[in-house]
Amino acid sequence: MRMYDVIEKKKLGQELTTEEIYEVIEGYTHGEIPDYQISALLMAIYFKGMNVRERLDLTMAMSYSGDILDLSSIDGVKIDKHSTGGVGDKVTLVLGPIVASIGVPVAKMSGRGLGHTGGTIDKLEAFPGFNVSLSEEEFTRQVNDIKIAVTGQSKNLAPADKKLYALRDVTATVDEISLITSSIMSKKLAAGTDAIVLDVTVGDGAFMKNKENALELAKSMVDIGKRAKKKIAAILTNMDEPLGYAVGNDLEVIEAINALKGNGPEDLMEVVYELGSQMIVFSEIETDKAKARKLMEDAVSSGRAFNKFIEFIEAQGGNSNYAKDLSNFKPASIIVPVEAKEDGYVHALKAESFGLASMSLGGGRETFDDVIDMAVGIVLNKKVGDTVKKGEPICYIHANDKNKIENAKELIEKATVISPDKCDHMKLIIDIVE
Ligand code: URA
Repeated sequence: MRMYDVIEKKKLGQELTTEEIYEVIEGYTHGEIPDYQISALLMAIYFKGMNVRERLDLTMAMSYSGDILDLSSIDGVKIDKHSTGGVGDKVTLVLGPIVASIGVPVAKMSGRGLGHTGGTIDKLEAFPGFNVSLSEEEFTRQVNDIKIAVTGQSKNLAPADKKLYALRDVTATVDEISLITSSIMSKKLAAGTDAIVLDVTVGDGAFMKNKENALELAKSMVDIGKRAKKKIAAILTNMDEPLGYAVGNDLEVIEAINALKGNGPEDLMEVVYELGSQMIVFSEIETDKAKARKLMEDAVSSGRAFNKFIEFIEAQGGNSNYAKDLSNFKPASIIVPVEAKEDGYVHALKAESFGLASMSLGGGRETFDDVIDMAVGIVLNKKVGDTVKKGEPICYIHANDKNKIENAKELIEKATVISPDKCDHMKLIIDIVE
């Protein structure tokens, strides 16, 4: 294979063969093909796309570029849940323990937050001692013992994706459906579960800003998952405003714990129940989604879900006293309201700006090496569809540095739209692709 010929072929919109795709991925992973040729190929793919066969080959080649987890020693249908990212997204922390307490084996690899979106691994580090890098053996043993383990992505999981993603990031080739599909699905397939439930977020705070693109991505990922013989479904969920009320690491963990005790915000619980009922159906514990949802509600009201959370934190070495007594979390030193400038209905709380505001307070990272401040963030007092009076708090900024407050406040004020016209609460579940 000559790399030049592969680039030329894709430039002309022709189909690449399976052998060509595997050779490109192997060659690039091992440093035998230079960045400049892969950059050219990525741009050709960006403009000419890939058909389903090419997408599947690309996904499988990337998946096989590193370790494939062997979860066969875990009993039952092993399930992974993945979100394409959002603001205030603490779904995994609530959903995982609920479905695990019902008997669904949750084997989850999670990431850290980057940019305006948060990451589950950062949030779990709110519990001192929590081990976010389990060995494969510890991971599988824990899922067998208590039905849930969450670990950071192992270093050698889909290394081709790590290199390709970094290159796409600097060559303006991130937002292409074949490339996003293969990037996400290669990691999901390498993670070795039998079933995958995808939360494809849509809206201002999401990677996909409109429904059409999100639906296309969801269909593409579900298609690839099915061709790879996985049980898979994608739920499109609204990410125009932050999910729940809290944005920021400790603040979100506290909200998640309250949700597990039965005091979760409606929008968060809607997403949790929709994804969870799909996971329960995949696990074959229940065939009917409505009945699965009832099982989840019972797990919360009986306290079983919260007890499972405690068991999970302790199994990974975390100090569960933080979950048992929320006053252990040290709050930020400054808490200031952002007040409404007029009477009316809240029409928008643009999620991306809330994420950026939290990041600017120190709650997120611009690069992977940044250290985050766990206590800072934003707690909403209003949601889209609520009425508000001039001077009432829209939200509260939690800060540890007074010099960072003004910028966060400005971002929030610009992201808040109030109007006299009546406005409905947001619909959370936009579509389901099975
Ligand atoms: N998340 C990923 O892992 N890959 C992409 O390409 C986009 C989002």
